[in-house]
Amino acid sequence: MRLVRTAGELRAALALSRAEEIGLVPTMGAYHAGHLALLRAARDENDLLVVSLFVNPAQFDSGDDLTAYPRDEERDARIAAEAGADILFAPSVEELYPPGYQTWIDVEELSRGLEGAARPGHFRGVATVCCKLFNLVRPTRAYFGQKDAQQVAVVRRMARDLHLDVELRVVPTVRDEDGLALSSRNVRLSPEERTRALALHRALATRDPNRARELLDGVAVDYVEVADFEPRVLAGAIRVGDTRLIDNVVLEGDPE
Ligand code: PAF
Repeated sequence: MRLVRTAGELRAALALSRAEEIGLVPTMGAYHAGHLALLRAARDENDLLVVSLFVNPAQFDSGDDLTAYPRDEERDARIAAEAGADILFAPSVEELYPPGYQTWIDVEELSRGLEGAARPGHFRGVATVCCKLFNLVRPTRAYFGQKDAQQVAVVRRMARDLHLDVELRVVPTVRDEDGLALSSRNVRLSPEERTRALALHRALATRDPNRARELLDGVAVDYVEVADFEPRVLAGAIRVGDTRLIDNVVLEGDPE
């Protein structure tokens, strides 16, 4: 696996590879089994696997959350290499947002509710960095997790609206045995908080927003709502201690 840090190095590595089908897995690191599922799918379906590793400051609405985000590049690079990545693109903040940077992508309506309401500016940061990564890598396919259903909807809309020639592949949510959706934020939960966090999936698994809200009585709920994405989902977000957790269940088509 080649580790590259600049857009120039990335372009040179891609030109050398002469790959016909390129899979891109955009990540912010802190890999868990959910990332492995994305890497596996991308490895299986493409000639060349590019993984990006970039904790994107533009999608964090709080400086504390950005600082607290788990980072271990050495571990993540090892995991990406073991999963068969050909190129790991790990740019600095200055490489993607140099001084004077001022171009942003706003997917207006889809960015407003749910996560967008709780985290102003979040999807503007996500859409912008994904567009930059798509332009740099020119992937045939890009891989995202169903757990971030609104992110998928926003990126899909952005790709359609801007005529980006990329196929979005959405990989089902990976869960622990007890149902908790894997997330890089789970490491912040104490054992007692982890038990409380299970309430979210249990509630969403009813696939009934009213029943789910009842089951979450006493929990700090940000929202439980049916969202008209492709596919439609019942999505929820709760706060457990200092940690905010999101999850969703698909309401049509394949259950998960
Ligand atoms: O889901 C994530 O990890 C991030 O939002 C992404 C897609 C890598 C963009 O920074």
